[in-house]
Formats: sequence, C-alpha cells, structure tokens
Amino acid sequence: MDRIHILDKDFEVSIKNETIQERVKALAERINQDYEGKNPIIICILNGAFMFAADLVRYLTFQPEILFARFSSYEGTETTGQVKEVMGITTSLAGRDVIIVEDIVDTGITMYNVLPLMRQKGASSIKIACLLQKPEKLQVDLAIDYCAMEIPNDFIVGYGLDYDGFGRNYKDIYSLAK
Ligand code: IMP
Ligand code: MG
Repeated sequence: MDRIHILDKDFEVSIKNETIQERVKALAERINQDYEGKNPIIICILNGAFMFAADLVRYLTFQPEILFARFSSYEGTETTGQVKEVMGITTSLAGRDVIIVEDIVDTGITMYNVLPLMRQKGASSIKIACLLQKPEKLQVDLAIDYCAMEIPNDFIVGYGLDYDGFGRNYKDIYSLAK
C-alpha cells in the first residue's frame, strides 16, 4: 500500500518496513555493545512506541526488564509542556540503568519532562532511544542517546504512530501527502 487515507487526510509511504528493520537492528547493535552483561530496565512509552519497542527488544542480546509507561501532555495550554504520568512505573528504578524507548522526539518537550520523573525514582543512569527524531523542531536541550532515523519536519503515521488515534497498525511509515 503506497497511499492510505485516515479520517480527512491522505498519506503516502515514506519509510518502508525493510528500512525500518535495518535501522532498528543497527540501533540494537549499538545498545548491545553498551549494555552487554547488564540488566537495564527498558521503559516503553505508550502508545506510540509499542511497535518499535517490540522489534527493538527482539534484537537485544542482553536481558532487560521491560516496563510500560504512559504520559499525557498539556499541549497548547502550558508553554512549559508539563507531562502527567497516566500509567506509571510501579517497579523500583533505584540504582538501575534505564533506557526510555520512545517513538519520536519532535519538540523534545515530552522527553525533557519525563527525564526528571525517572531521576526522582532513583535510576542510576537514564538513556533515551527513539525511532525517529525531527532535529529541526527540537526546542529544548535534550541529549538523545540512540536514534534510529532522523526525518524532516513532516507529520507521519504508521509503525505505532497515529493521526487522531488511527494508523498505528501499518508496518510502514507514511507522510502527509503533498
Ligand atoms: P514532543 O514532546 O514534541 O517531542 O512530542 C513527542 C510526541 O508527539 C511523540 O511521542 C508522538 O506521540 C507525538 N508526535 C510527534 N510528531 C508526530 C508525528 O509526526 N506523527 C505522530 N505523532 C507525533
Ligand atoms: Mg508518543
């Protein structure tokens, strides 16, 4: 499927699953080198990162614990872009290495606000692994340790990412049609 229609918008395929898999595998190899023999906690940020996390962890050669968390952001209402933990972590992070797995870093505000929450829980190290980043849109000082792909400033769906709740199921990534 090269074109899809979701609600009122048309999207065209921009990153095929074969490419996604190559990039995810290459990212996993970097993570494998850094965490060999360790048992970090991987936190998959719902909803968008579910597919990326599912593929990423299958390429890992160490033994992580895998947890899930969900945050809601108050976009538009607050310039600080505060996030609220909607589904939190109940496992202790004290003294643990944590890898946050996120679908996409856009303005970076979500991750910027999530990091202190993880630090408060006592993690000894925290790294961010994202599938995608839009470098042109980054608004905050955020170190992204692992990023599979950088993309231009387009709105995308598929491979976990949604437009108004739909489109997450596609194995390829689609951009808004011009
Ligand atoms: P940030 O706080 O601006 O970095 O936004 C990050 C969140 O916005 C991601 O976790 C996504 O859920 C969502 N997001 C950003 N860009 C896109 C996109 O192009 N398509 C779908 N969701 C997006
Ligand atoms: Mg997200």
